[in-house]
Amino acid sequence: MQIYKVGGAVRDRLLGKPVTDIDWVVVGATAEEMLAQGFRPVGADFPVFLHPKSGEEYALARTERKSGRGYGGFTFHASPEVTLEEDLIRRDLTINAMAEDDQQNLTDPYHGQRDLDDRILRHVSPAFAEDPLRVLRVARFAARYAELGFKVAPETLELMRELSESGELEALTAERSWKEISRALMENQPQVFIQVLRDCGALKVLMPEVDALFGVPQPEAHHPEIDSGIHTLSVLEQAALHQQPLTVRWACLLHDLGKGLTPEEEWPRHIAHEHKGLKLIKAVNERFKAPKDCQELALLVGQYHTHGHRALELKASTLLELLQSFDVYRRPQRFEEFIVACEMDARGRKGLEQRSYPQADYLRGAASAARGVAVQPLLEKGFQGPELGEALKRERLKALKAYKESASS
Ligand code: CTP
Repeated sequence: MQIYKVGGAVRDRLLGKPVTDIDWVVVGATAEEMLAQGFRPVGADFPVFLHPKSGEEYALARTERKSGRGYGGFTFHASPEVTLEEDLIRRDLTINAMAEDDQQNLTDPYHGQRDLDDRILRHVSPAFAEDPLRVLRVARFAARYAELGFKVAPETLELMRELSESGELEALTAERSWKEISRALMENQPQVFIQVLRDCGALKVLMPEVDALFGVPQPEAHHPEIDSGIHTLSVLEQAALHQQPLTVRWACLLHDLGKGLTPEEEWPRHIAHEHKGLKLIKAVNERFKAPKDCQELALLVGQYHTHGHRALELKASTLLELLQSFDVYRRPQRFEEFIVACEMDARGRKGLEQRSYPQADYLRGAASAARGVAVQPLLEKGFQGPELGEALKRERLKALKAYKESASS
């Protein structure tokens, strides 16, 4: 049997990037031979094994044929006769379809190295269409390698468009899609992921609510970029530039969905878009079964981001309601994530990327003023149950009024 390093490990070594995961392909072996050597099978009828010591994945060379719709519809053919070239041709991109032996001799029948040099993400063969998840993968690689100048090849974008229009994307499971989306959002240029999905028509299928923002104008005075879709991309870009966590990036992507619902005659204003957007945010959250912390933050940022921007003008009672909505006493981190999401929203506007955002520290100060109200003295005064809750609220309101006064003096 011959063993080769394949896929991302070869690609990233050639790019001079750190290699984290190594995948191996085994040519000329049977499953029985692998088991006899101590490899552990990954699944019952999937020709992939884990190395007994390193735990790395070793896959028998295989060809794949799609036999039906969706991810279940695959048949695999793995046998000792399948060649390395046959295994490589069923892979997604030429830059992912190179193999290397233990002497670092490259097998590159589909010119992955040339495409690496030319900064092109190009599909290997029509077999690309066998897995619609690859539409998301290509967009993710475009986001990851945008800083190196990579672009999607026009013929690959065309194939991605055909796949998007064929209805195949709807067959992806929430789990597989979310894995790609969440990884893509954590790349350095997540806005490129959304842009590429839009360019091939996949955004309209996966997140029509986000797609609908493009072409919707906003008032130029606050939004020199005008277009709501462009604004969303810029907010996401800011979130990545400021190295925000996934929760914040997800909230940034979804914060303005309500603007896509505004009747044209009301453009460029978007009255109550925060509230109108909530049902759309909920739908996107549920479609991809986003983790609970992402879901919650997206809804809260959707509902309250304008409060964030107007923080300095809010009455003490409104500030208190805002803090209560976030349960800031038990979940201080979530409120901090809200604050930075608002800041990204404020900076994700053309020419305003460097603006200061005094609202952020002001909100932090308000949260600590409210959190500074101690429960013990109220308990000592004999307050209990709902009365204790009311008394706490009164004290917090007092603290916020004092805070507002001290902040404005
Ligand atoms: N692959 C593919 N189609 C997929 C998933 C994977 O063709 N839908 C192939 C590619 O050759 C890929 C390899 O399997 O390089 C390994 O896949 P994976 O570990 O998911 O990705 P990597 O390329 O290693 O990329 P990453 O750095 O994102 O993990």
